[in-house]
Amino acid sequence: MKQFTSVRDMHDVNKFVQEALALKQNPLVHSQLGKNKTLGLIFLNPSLRTRMSAQKAAYNLGMNVITVSMDKEGWSIEFEEGAVMNAGKTEHIKEAAAVIGQYCDIAGIRCFPGLTDRHFDYGEVVLNQFIRYCNVPVVSLESATLHPLQSFADLITITENWNKPLKPKVVLTWAPHIKALPQAVANSFSEWMTAAEVEFIITHPEGYELDEIYTEGDTVTYDQENALLNADFVYVKNWSSYRDYGKILPVEKNWMLTNGKLGITNNAKVMHCLPVRRNVELPDEIMDGENTLILKQAENRIYAAQAVLKKMLAEI
Ligand code: CP
Repeated sequence: MKQFTSVRDMHDVNKFVQEALALKQNPLVHSQLGKNKTLGLIFLNPSLRTRMSAQKAAYNLGMNVITVSMDKEGWSIEFEEGAVMNAGKTEHIKEAAAVIGQYCDIAGIRCFPGLTDRHFDYGEVVLNQFIRYCNVPVVSLESATLHPLQSFADLITITENWNKPLKPKVVLTWAPHIKALPQAVANSFSEWMTAAEVEFIITHPEGYELDEIYTEGDTVTYDQENALLNADFVYVKNWSSYRDYGKILPVEKNWMLTNGKLGITNNAKVMHCLPVRRNVELPDEIMDGENTLILKQAENRIYAAQAVLKKMLAEI
């Protein structure tokens, strides 16, 4: 595996989930595989879970880790080809990525969208330039459009919490937020659920349609109540508008999930990628209730990252 940026980089999703679950049972079984190998983790944006889970996964495999919070510690990076760098940017991605590749055997990068230029963000300019110039296998730690390690952990969590022969009904529901957030988690979850053995429905207010490339064939409805009916898993996430790019649009009713709304589900488990704004996106009664899988998702981030790193290490 030369890159992990999307579910499309996985040949057999179910096999990978089983591999991650096996690693969870015995995390140190491959503790020699990464000996003398270095993982570089480059963050252009903040992170708690992705940073710590990737480090933990690498340590479980015996790797060394170098983490750089580029937004605070590194030089400002220019991405434009042929740029005359006579303004604020200090270093070009061509040199920065190439140097990182010299120090590391595998590199990860987190690069959020700016949410102002859809063409730039959805072209994944930052991620693609990094992959192009760093010359080692690259793991996306969340890009402008996708968050594959999160979605992989989410599918692991659904799999280990479902033991019936029928496909579970999984609902992705939009939630309110005070800030404009990327569509990456929602895009990615949709992409992974489409590849998984589940019945998948997306519900959101009008104007919050995701890029159809990630939702092709999925059921999408503005009727949250109808979507929640008999759901087994409800994934809660805010995202800003893709159509009116990066904007927060006015929404009439309250889209926050409550225990009352959960009453029409099949006693659904509730999921969220974190960080969550309590009592804005999700109420305390759900966050502290019995139906939440949210901390289990965060725990499974370790084994998602470990399964990906293990596959990359085996092929170096
Ligand atoms: N879910 C997630 O990616 O968390 P962080 O932003 O803290 O890494």
